[in-house]
Amino acid sequence: MGEKAKQRILSGMRPSGRLHLGHLHGVLENWKRLQETYECHFLVADWHALTTDYEHPHEIPANIEDMVLDWLAVGIDPDKVTLFIQSDVKEHAELHLLLSMITPVSWLERNPTYKEQQQQLKEKDLATHGFLGYPVLQAADILVYKAHKVPVGVDQLPHLELSREITRRFNYLYGEVFPVPEALLAEVPKLPGLDGRKMSKSYDNSVFLSDSPDVVRKKISTMITDTERPRMGDPGDPEKRCVAFNLHRLYIPQERLEVIVSGCKAAKLGCAACKQELAEAVIKKMEPIRQRRESIAADHSRVKAILTDGADKARKVARSTMSQVRSTLWSRNAR
Ligand code: TRP
Repeated sequence: MGEKAKQRILSGMRPSGRLHLGHLHGVLENWKRLQETYECHFLVADWHALTTDYEHPHEIPANIEDMVLDWLAVGIDPDKVTLFIQSDVKEHAELHLLLSMITPVSWLERNPTYKEQQQQLKEKDLATHGFLGYPVLQAADILVYKAHKVPVGVDQLPHLELSREITRRFNYLYGEVFPVPEALLAEVPKLPGLDGRKMSKSYDNSVFLSDSPDVVRKKISTMITDTERPRMGDPGDPEKRCVAFNLHRLYIPQERLEVIVSGCKAAKLGCAACKQELAEAVIKKMEPIRQRRESIAADHSRVKAILTDGADKARKVARSTMSQVRSTLWSRNAR
């Protein structure tokens, strides 16, 4: 790109603790690619975690540490990206407040995740101002870095759409301060959990990046295969019906994959052996990540320093945006 400034990216994750294979293939692989060509800001959205977990805030710090370790272990590189905790940069809160002034409540009530989550998380009282304003905070995260692109999964698209509307409204009311952020959707391989549902910590069906080889073996041995093949003597159809085969596609080399498919279809290869082979392939690929994670985890001060340094870098950008925001907001020339 030469002298031309790189486009800016902002993305984030709620600190959900240890990450699993779904995060790796769905998000982190993509972040790793992006860090090579964009100016990336990746944040730990701890205030967003509070919107649903405000009754248990004390669990959040440990979850932050676990998640950041996983980011670093897979190769998110603090020399290339700005990696920080949202609540370390107070400018997010100020912008959130200002954006909340111009965001119609009806936009937020229309947000599909607002109603869905209230339904799904019935044990929590989510009829709060903070939870309703979740997308406003997300908009502030993005805008305070004037990000052009926001890598997100499809589930986050409604939030991003709201960010775009809020941006346009700000620019219209006060002056063109922010680029309207665009979603960057990556192609994500299908990666079901052990039980066939989406891999998710709350379903207890995940293989974590930090799982030991023995745990990985045990977990994968319980994975659902082709339910229409109860006995080994029944022919299977892995490409259409086997849950585990989605992992095979990611971890087993193509030539071997073909042999497995024909063995399964001919009712010669049993599921137990087939999953053992899968487990070993997963373990082998995960081993460098696990080792890196362990060595980084052994040095607490290093993770701390990375986050402090990241927050310092982020704050510089955020401060400069906010001074522009304030002068635009209060100036007589505003529209
Ligand atoms: N809401 C996102 C999630 O639940 C996390 C997030 C917070 C985020 N701020 C962001 C994502 C800004 C993209 C951009 O996964």
